[in-house]
Amino acid sequence: MYVAQPIEWTEDGVVVLDQRRLTAQEVHHTYTDYRDVAKAIREMVIRGAPAIGVAAAMGVALGVQKSSAKTLEGLAAEFAEICDALAQTRPTAVDLFWALERMRNRFAELSRSRADLAGIRQALIREAQEVHAEKKATDEAIGRFGAEFMPREGQVMTQCNAGALATGGIGTALGVIRVAYQQGRKLHVLVPETRPYLQGARLTAWELHRGGIPLTVITDNMVGHFLKSGKVGAVVTGADRVAANGDTANKIGTYQIAVLAKENNVPFYIAAPVSTFDLTIATGEQIPIEERAATEVTHIQGVRIAPDVPAAHPAFDVTPSRYITAIFTERGVAKAPYTESLRELAGAVPAKAAR
Ligand code: MRU
Repeated sequence: MYVAQPIEWTEDGVVVLDQRRLTAQEVHHTYTDYRDVAKAIREMVIRGAPAIGVAAAMGVALGVQKSSAKTLEGLAAEFAEICDALAQTRPTAVDLFWALERMRNRFAELSRSRADLAGIRQALIREAQEVHAEKKATDEAIGRFGAEFMPREGQVMTQCNAGALATGGIGTALGVIRVAYQQGRKLHVLVPETRPYLQGARLTAWELHRGGIPLTVITDNMVGHFLKSGKVGAVVTGADRVAANGDTANKIGTYQIAVLAKENNVPFYIAAPVSTFDLTIATGEQIPIEERAATEVTHIQGVRIAPDVPAAHPAFDVTPSRYITAIFTERGVAKAPYTESLRELAGAVPAKAAR
């Protein structure tokens, strides 16, 4: 089954599929400067929490590879600048900070061992490639755990794009759907278009269609109508950050889907890797919500659709954990009380990086 490849480390640089141009065009960019990787994350050339983490790790590796520093001290100073630039790109998805922390830890380890600069460069490239490989493995495991909860047949709903394009693996929410479909469950996916950036209509529809999984695109204001129909067996979405109590930030619009799902007795699931947990914050109230440009609301693909008036664009919302039936991770399935189940799953995972 077709799996999109949003990012790749190559000898020529970091190759990224431009998700702003999908589905009209499949355009790739090859980045040789970490600043361009940071810009690509900020401008949504690559997006989706785990994929942003992979891009950040590769951005760090690229910055170190291209650095002209001749001493460890010089490289360390540049390393801090590289990490800062990548950290300033998008504030909500904690995977970004998780990946940067991991690269920082590896750099510190290599510095302590007084490895030579060439060795440090190679080791950081390998670390970024490992981050990517691990995302593929975690997606597969999330898919296996989550597939058990999908209906044998009928409709399932998702939100935004939590597929291969968003992770670099098979996807989290779409990974669950993909595994369930491959197991023979006769699923039909309802795909809300996900205004304003249209990750549903452009990206999820593209991935499912190329993967041969039946789908229907709906507009965001049709969600209640379909959830009330009695035909939707489950909702499954990704996550950008999961607080200690299970409150979950995901693409704007997820909260209203979760509330409507509960109202209509449809189970609402989150599929996310443990790297998306932020157990340093007690509740979703503390999750920073990215505000993006108003022009992304007033314009579609460069065409103005509203007069020149103010427009709001919170890019994410927080779903309180009481609406979440279960959270699928690569280590198992968390259920309420989440404060206990998430801590258990996180196990020995190191504390998350500071934002
Ligand atoms: O703004 P985006 O497109 O980066 O938002 C993506 C989402 O909200 C996804 O649902 C989330 O990152 C999970 S991706 C596996």
